[in-house]
Amino acid sequence: MSAALACAACGRRFPVGSPLVQCPCSGLLEVVQKPRRGAGALRAAFDRRRVSDRVGQGSGVWRFRELLLPGGGPIVTHPEGDTALYRRAALARFAGVEDLAVKHEGENPTGSFKDRGMTVAVTHAVRSGARAVACASTGNTSASMAAYAAQAGLPALVFVPAGKVAAGKLAQALAYGARTLLVRGDFDACLRLAREAAHAFGITLLNSVNPWRIEGQKTIVLEMLQQRGWDPPDWIVVPAGNLGNTAAFGKALREARDLGLIRRVPRLASIQAAGAAPFYRSFRVGFRRRFRVAADTVATAIRIGDPASYDRAVASIRETDGVVAAVTDREILEAKAAVDAAGIGCEPASAAAVAGARQLRRRGLIRRGQSVVAVLTGHLLKDPQTVMDFHLGRRRGANAPIEIAPTLAAVARVLKG
Ligand code: F0G
Repeated sequence: MSAALACAACGRRFPVGSPLVQCPCSGLLEVVQKPRRGAGALRAAFDRRRVSDRVGQGSGVWRFRELLLPGGGPIVTHPEGDTALYRRAALARFAGVEDLAVKHEGENPTGSFKDRGMTVAVTHAVRSGARAVACASTGNTSASMAAYAAQAGLPALVFVPAGKVAAGKLAQALAYGARTLLVRGDFDACLRLAREAAHAFGITLLNSVNPWRIEGQKTIVLEMLQQRGWDPPDWIVVPAGNLGNTAAFGKALREARDLGLIRRVPRLASIQAAGAAPFYRSFRVGFRRRFRVAADTVATAIRIGDPASYDRAVASIRETDGVVAAVTDREILEAKAAVDAAGIGCEPASAAAVAGARQLRRRGLIRRGQSVVAVLTGHLLKDPQTVMDFHLGRRRGANAPIEIAPTLAAVARVLKG
């Protein structure tokens, strides 16, 4: 297998065993590789491993190992992936999209899609001799990194915006033993600081600027395609914050097409929260300008004003004839209530995907009869406070709990009401 790390900005190449996660020119690095096997053999291997896989131990990431991390060696896996693709009539009705499926990445071991990138990036970090790992995070990346670092026996350093991380996520970082810094600043400030600290103290940075994270996250798309018998949907809709997933999805689709795993490339729709929509603003001007904003949204996971994987994400949207849209916090909360009420459940940022599908259908971009897969990125229990605020408020659809005396009469009164 011929493989290398290539800089998208200056074109320099590095061996895949290199501990670099960013080019010295500060450009984004990308893994380039070409598996020796053709589409038929790869598909057969992926399908066989779906049933039994000794090397990947049942991981929905390592099943696709020819397309991830070249070379042999130990892997740090929980395992992860193998998440469900749900179809629910009520949700399809809500979105107005008859052929809607949601892929629930909240079913990963730490409750978000981040585990897919983390298993690959931590494996690479171990193989390339990392002494410690660090990340900035709106919560999920830190929860995932903390878990995988604990498994690998690596010290972990986390930078999160003070007061802006959902309770479930902060609890995880602490529980898994990461040294956790509550930074008085937003996510963008955290990422700047994490980059500086990683450079200054020789710590391996595990944000999605790390190209191995992107490799792992490609498997959300690969696994979804496999679940559909390699028949691509018309659209893939994904929430967008730091743009790691948008970057990874474009790369996955490009490679799947070039390898012959699929013939047709779905259109990618990246959905931002209206209060944190710099990528949407750029899309609106044909990507002629890059915007940076002061971000604010109820979906704290995507409260990001200066996304790091911007360049890669622009390529993904261009190559897939994709679109970028923005949804309001209200639309996000309504979509979340619909996902929750369907018995699936997700965190607020994830619901942006369903809100986005609904908006794109209403705008006629998603046409009647087209098939759509929306990616739910995180588990409902990540952010219990937002759930309680919604249901204890007086909104439409609120399901407030009822306190009663411990008597049958009190139960009867409730049932009658
Ligand atoms: N959904 C959830 C639940 C997330 O946690 C994130 C990002 C996104 C969507 C956006 O994905 O960054 O690839 O565009 N969370 C990061 C974190 C920033 O630190 O956990 P993206």
